[in-house]
Amino acid sequence: MDKLPIGIFDSGVGGLTVVKEIIEQLPNENIVYLGDTARIPYGTRDNKTIKGFAKELTEFINKQDVKLIVVACNTMSAVALREIESVAGNVPVVDVISPMVNYACSISEIKKLAVIGTRATISSGEYEKQIKIKSGVKVVSQSCPLFVPLVEEGLTKGKVVELIIRNYLNGITKEDTDGLILGCTHYPALAPVIKNILGKEIKIIDSGFPTALEAKKVLAKNHILNKSNVKSKYEFYVTDNTVRSFEIAQRLFDGKFPGKIKRVKLG
Ligand code: DGL
Repeated sequence: MDKLPIGIFDSGVGGLTVVKEIIEQLPNENIVYLGDTARIPYGTRDNKTIKGFAKELTEFINKQDVKLIVVACNTMSAVALREIESVAGNVPVVDVISPMVNYACSISEIKKLAVIGTRATISSGEYEKQIKIKSGVKVVSQSCPLFVPLVEEGLTKGKVVELIIRNYLNGITKEDTDGLILGCTHYPALAPVIKNILGKEIKIIDSGFPTALEAKKVLAKNHILNKSNVKSKYEFYVTDNTVRSFEIAQRLFDGKFPGKIKRVKLG
């Protein structure tokens, strides 16, 4: 059981930012990744559609005989977690929102938070709800629907990117924000520009670190951490053009993407 892979999925290549951190924190683990690049973006669609897609991705990942499922997508975590858990059956599921909320609320200097994410994530109100339950931290949120297409296009810097980011973030200032949650797993690719615009005083937090930590905790709790020293096996699948996904993956991994990407058809 402990040698089985961790199954990780997203609507596209954004979830690879979570994979990167999981490899960092859990170097012995085998991984199977699926990005539904043929149907991205999910964040602009309605909840019923997102739930349907999420179930299909979970079915594919579950068929790979995984020991843990990581939903490396805020949109599916916000809208379709119940559906994912019901398809996953006995396989434990880690989402990206609750680990992020626990982590952000545990940073003592953060008293006021801003959350950015896809339209579906922000309109679900899931971050606000969970933050309210956890702490008295104030929270404002903003959807940024153009960020995902930018990252999937490989556009992560330059004048146009900067203008678009400024346009969405102009209400987020250091006067009323100590921490910014990147509530979408694509957004870390834009983090250098976001940091530049917002300045050093606002702490930027993304899904990778807290989610990898949570995955580690769940594996340890279930006694299924892989302790073997055999080189880990990584399998990456997308539902559309593999060449483009590979280019973006290489960029996200600073040229050291640890595998090949294969195309699959769902269903
Ligand atoms: N990476 C997904 C997320 O974290 C992107 C969603 C999309 O497909 O719009 O929300």
